[in-house]
Amino acid sequence: MTGGAETVRAFLRRSTFEQHAGIDAHAVLAPLASPSLTQDAYASALGALRGWYAAIESALRPWDERMPFLDIAARRKSHLIAADLTVLGVRSVETWEAAVDARIADEADVYGALYVTEGSTLGGRMLAGRIRGSLGPAAPLAFYTAYGEDHGRRWRDFLAALECAPSRGISRAAIGRGADAAFGALRARLDAASALIDMVCA
Ligand code: HEM
Repeated sequence: MTGGAETVRAFLRRSTFEQHAGIDAHAVLAPLASPSLTQDAYASALGALRGWYAAIESALRPWDERMPFLDIAARRKSHLIAADLTVLGVRSVETWEAAVDARIADEADVYGALYVTEGSTLGGRMLAGRIRGSLGPAAPLAFYTAYGEDHGRRWRDFLAALECAPSRGISRAAIGRGADAAFGALRARLDAASALIDMVCA
């Protein structure tokens, strides 16, 4: 970390704030935080998220060994979404993975995409409490309680690696572009899911 400069995390939080606010308020995800959440709406949200997580995780796979200090393989979560969807009675979950534009071209994209997937665990913990409140103690929460008690350490470990990126010659701006692209792909995935839900419910 260079003296006085904004941390990489602070830069990313600031530069992706609008994107995050848009995702957080999206019609497919907003019900998650609402006391009137239904099982169907929960399943729709998880179904949409699974496509994006699965696509990002596939795109990150070639970097598992090339960037071991990021522990990428241990951070995969799309299988947890599949487990929750099965508990919710969703039999065939088309991942729509192919429809997600998840390009990871370089190390900056790896840091950017992981910032979005790992940062989402912060809100995820809050959402787990809301979902349990709305759907009851039997609500499947494997995804939203990913990492269990190890959550804090996982996030801190990621932040420690992230702050070392500039000393490896990787700029904040490049990582920011990677995070923007990951949020953009998620947004497109949620919009497509919205259109599908509207079509099915019309
Ligand atoms: C209803 C949906 C969501 C809610 C309510 C929500 C809520 C939150 C909350 C409360 C935080 C912590 C902010 C803080 O520490 O000040 C957060 C951080 C974050 N969330 Fe979300 N979130 C949602 C969905 C998502 C999704 C789907 C993603 C991406 C897959 C995401 C990515 C992030 C990131 C990257 C951070 C920032 C981490 C940092 O502090 O640097 N969020 N979210």
